[in-house]
Amino acid sequence: MKTRITKLLNIEYPVICGGLYRIGRAPLAAAVSEAGGLGIMTSATFETAEDLRREIRVARKLTEKPIGVNINLFPSVKNMPNEAYIDVLLDEGIRIVETSGRSPEPYMKVLKDNNVTVIHKVAGVKYAKTAERVGCDAVTVVGFEAGGHPGMEDVGNIVLVPQTVDAVSIPVLAGGGIADGRGLTAMLALGAEGIVMGTRFLASQEAMVHDNVKRWMVQATELDTAIIQKSIGSTSRVARNEIALQVMEAENRGAELKELLPLISGQRAAKVFNEGDLDAGIFSCGQSVARISDIQTAEEIILGVVGEAKQAMERMSKVWGNSMVHCLK
Ligand SMILES: Cc1cc2nc3c(=O)[nH]c(=O)nc-3n(C[C@H](O)[C@H](O)[C@H](O)COP(=O)(O)O)c2cc1C
Repeated sequence: MKTRITKLLNIEYPVICGGLYRIGRAPLAAAVSEAGGLGIMTSATFETAEDLRREIRVARKLTEKPIGVNINLFPSVKNMPNEAYIDVLLDEGIRIVETSGRSPEPYMKVLKDNNVTVIHKVAGVKYAKTAERVGCDAVTVVGFEAGGHPGMEDVGNIVLVPQTVDAVSIPVLAGGGIADGRGLTAMLALGAEGIVMGTRFLASQEAMVHDNVKRWMVQATELDTAIIQKSIGSTSRVARNEIALQVMEAENRGAELKELLPLISGQRAAKVFNEGDLDAGIFSCGQSVARISDIQTAEEIILGVVGEAKQAMERMSKVWGNSMVHCLK
């Protein structure tokens, strides 16, 4: 497969595992890269920049292929030593950075001075234009379907992706709702040049997440996620569990931030992922969870997605049959 994204990132398949807070560690990132996609480690997962350095070194032992680091600029993820993370990743030879949450403009000079390829993740067309303006090499646009932060505008990818592709000239990656090869083919058809998956890789064998979470994901349907935190300007798509329902109820009656904070705390999410207590807190999960039926390795996921995409493309080319000539006349 060849797109501007495979060329830009020097990867075989235009499939990226996006940043995964608390999960994006070396084994998963390296497995994704080794399989021909791009794996990303999430700096915010590590308490200190030196912890990130150690993890990058672990990843380097597992793969020599390109690997990226996510710098999380979301205002909700506070007090991150982002400058120190960047010093460390540059030091360790990382040359692909995914940013998200806020414009990466303050960090662009140091990143570009060091030949880093910057992919910024946005949830709307106007933010994609900003990413292009500040010098990003590519932009990921996430639709309403996405796990994590799908933005405030509630636009699904079937509209958002072509709108973004038409608005910028840098390559566009699509994220949100994609978990299989049909999704990859659809996004390529809409003009994207690659895909970002988060939810699908959360349910991979390499993701360091309690088995209870993975088992829940296998049986979940497209109705098992919820949108919360819109009232506080930090929309999140999460698993529709007991705490998510409590947050929704509180938001519906106009609860203030101070009432929501104890429910949405990060410690609670950590309990879900580490201890497998599914109702301990909210945790990010996209609608594409419905498309997951097995806990595969990252390699099986990538090769499966690519194989299915090829089948989908072949199926589409047959739709035209001989009538294609007729239509073009
Ligand atoms: C558990 C989880 C944690 C995430 N953490 C981050 C993060 O720290 N930074 C980020 O940019 N995106 C994060 N995301 C978003 C993903 O990188 C990706 O953009 C999104 O999952 C794509 O949509 P999908 O869930 O439908 O695949 C997270 C997603 C999930 C499911």
